[in-house]
Amino acid sequence: MDDRQRYDRATAELEPPFAILDLTAMRANAADLVRRAAGKPIRVASKSVRSRPVLERILAMDGFHGIMAFTLPEALWLAGHGFTDILVAYPTADRAALARLAADPAAAREIALTVDSPAHLDTIEDAVAGTPGRHEIRLSMDIDAGFRAFGGRLRAGAWRSPVREPAQAAELAAAIAKRPGFRLSGLMAYEAQIAGVGDDPPGNAAFARAVRLMQARSARELIIRRGRIVNAVRQITDLDFVNGGGTGSIEKTVREKAVTEVAAGSGFFHPRLFDFYRGFTGHPAALFALPVVRRPAPGIVTVLGGGYPASGAAGPSRLPQPYLPAGLRYAPDEGAGEVQTPLLGPGADDLRIGDRVWFRHAKAGEMCERFATLHLIDGESVVDSVPTYRGEGQTFL
Ligand SMILES: Cc1ncc(COP(=O)(O)O)c(C=O)c1O
Repeated sequence: MDDRQRYDRATAELEPPFAILDLTAMRANAADLVRRAAGKPIRVASKSVRSRPVLERILAMDGFHGIMAFTLPEALWLAGHGFTDILVAYPTADRAALARLAADPAAAREIALTVDSPAHLDTIEDAVAGTPGRHEIRLSMDIDAGFRAFGGRLRAGAWRSPVREPAQAAELAAAIAKRPGFRLSGLMAYEAQIAGVGDDPPGNAAFARAVRLMQARSARELIIRRGRIVNAVRQITDLDFVNGGGTGSIEKTVREKAVTEVAAGSGFFHPRLFDFYRGFTGHPAALFALPVVRRPAPGIVTVLGGGYPASGAAGPSRLPQPYLPAGLRYAPDEGAGEVQTPLLGPGADDLRIGDRVWFRHAKAGEMCERFATLHLIDGESVVDSVPTYRGEGQTFL
């Protein structure tokens, strides 16, 4: 039985639109992440999962430890449900959540906040100043792991932290050490230009070569700079963790001695954007089904909904992929529509009203912002149906 038949049969009782998670595929993906991490623990990037029961299943497997959360309210919510060792990997300016953190000893023990400047320390200090018996706030320093060449005229990677050099990192570590009520417990340096950019992009061979060259140079630069930064900061404070990497870079990031753990999230669902890496091949695990609702002309079917683009620089790569049956494509002037999506291609004529078309999202966890439930498929049946964050009424971003 092929995957399409398996999914159609397992979900025959469900009415699309709905989303599924193929547990067999996800377990295989998880095992491959662990293999690539070569013994270093993997912190689970919750933004790329966005379902509490699925995060619990992942953390129950060997090789995974801790959560990389995306907002402080999310981290507090997870801590309240028993999750431990939670790094909020993006700075927060949420005063109410900061006050809740400072007032809650269990949360303050488990959660670390990201800072990259004294202004962040001031913001946190202001927010927690009036909290009676406030607890120590754990911090993680974010380091710019981007690539620069030609005196900064060429750059790749995400705009994140202004802290880039060992001296800057040491200065911020010293500023934290001087402030009562704060403890620097970790460092994070995410090399988006390696982890989040496929080194095997389709189509343009010259572009693919340029990406690989940039990534190789960036990795060489980073191994030295990240090591020096960690040494400089460790002169001032003991660190619980040094985090780096993501799904796309695990086997490269773990080679650096200074890195104690890697982060990964997208690799569990293996969305479309992760098809273009030479270092690994995942199994698409998270899919959504849309029903065929009309047939406007021969060679075309229309499905309900579909316009679930992913974040990032807008373009065709951010659209969901019509996945099964194979060979369907968007109408160029309509793309993935708000309430309906025409699909063209040889497979269209075999589809009847009420049949399903299975899609993959371009990114991982964002799919869960569209669906309240993930139906978990193991083998040929639905073994459980679990809520996404949205399904629990939690829309953090
Ligand atoms: C700080 C940080 N670490 C790691 C990742 C990697 O996440 P994923 O494995 O989902 O690509 C990201 C993704 O954007 C990130 O922002």
